[in-house]
Amino acid sequence: MRSQALIFLGAPGAGKGTQAREVSKYYSIPQISTGDILRQAVRNGTPLGLAAKAKMEAGELVPDEVVCGIVEQRISQPDCLNGLILDGFPRTLPQAECVGDLLLAKGKGKPLVIDIKVDPEVLFKRLTGRRTCSLCGEIYNIYFNPPRVEGFCDKDGGKLFQRADDSEEVIRQRMTAYETETSPLIVYYTSKGLLHVVEGDRRPELITKDLIEFLGKA
Ligand code: AP5
Ligand code: MG
Repeated sequence: MRSQALIFLGAPGAGKGTQAREVSKYYSIPQISTGDILRQAVRNGTPLGLAAKAKMEAGELVPDEVVCGIVEQRISQPDCLNGLILDGFPRTLPQAECVGDLLLAKGKGKPLVIDIKVDPEVLFKRLTGRRTCSLCGEIYNIYFNPPRVEGFCDKDGGKLFQRADDSEEVIRQRMTAYETETSPLIVYYTSKGLLHVVEGDRRPELITKDLIEFLGKA
């Protein structure tokens, strides 16, 4: 993989986290999910968490300057020296401009952007069925990828939890935020020749295989 930074774009539930996790393991580079960082801050009750909580609960985007600040700090860590994956960032045009500048300033060049495409009807069931391990973050789905023992992680036995923003009402708001604020990034990155689209309505392992194959050549 030539590029130092990978960006995973895609609607809520498209499989950004699921795929970023696999690619991160394969290349031994960190998966940086702004959603995960924000949820951790909310759980810890930090000033960042307090600032983000209401927006996240409403399914709205957290202000650009807040998430750009998080990413700037995170990509300066030594584990990002050999590459990194941005999962769920950028999500607005100002964030895209910001990350472009940050990557250049860190000597990482232009990012490679992966858009995971999935039909909107499929997304809803994926999100309401999602369960996540409280210990290792492994992602399950009670409809499509259930754990062997209900409520517990196959890998470490950790208790599975349902995300607070995976309720029907909040999912609808997240989809709207995606349509209005994030989907313009598809045109933005296409016009720069940086976008690669993958068909996301297939078994997760097939998508991972295609991605690794593509990244090997890219
Ligand atoms: P974030 O955590 O990024 O949520 P999201 O974008 O809504 O995306 P999800 O994490 O819900 O979906 P995913 O694509 O990762 O899917 P997953 O792999 O889990 O953001 C949450 C909130 O934080 C935002 O609403 C906002 O408030 C704030 N925020 C975060 N970043 C921000 C930013 N940059 N700017 C401003 N605000 C920001 O898969 C979903 C389910 O589907 C799972 O159950 C999984 O098992 C299943 N699944 C996955 N792939 C497949 C497949 N191929 N087939 C069948 N099932 C599958
Ligand atoms: Mg995610």
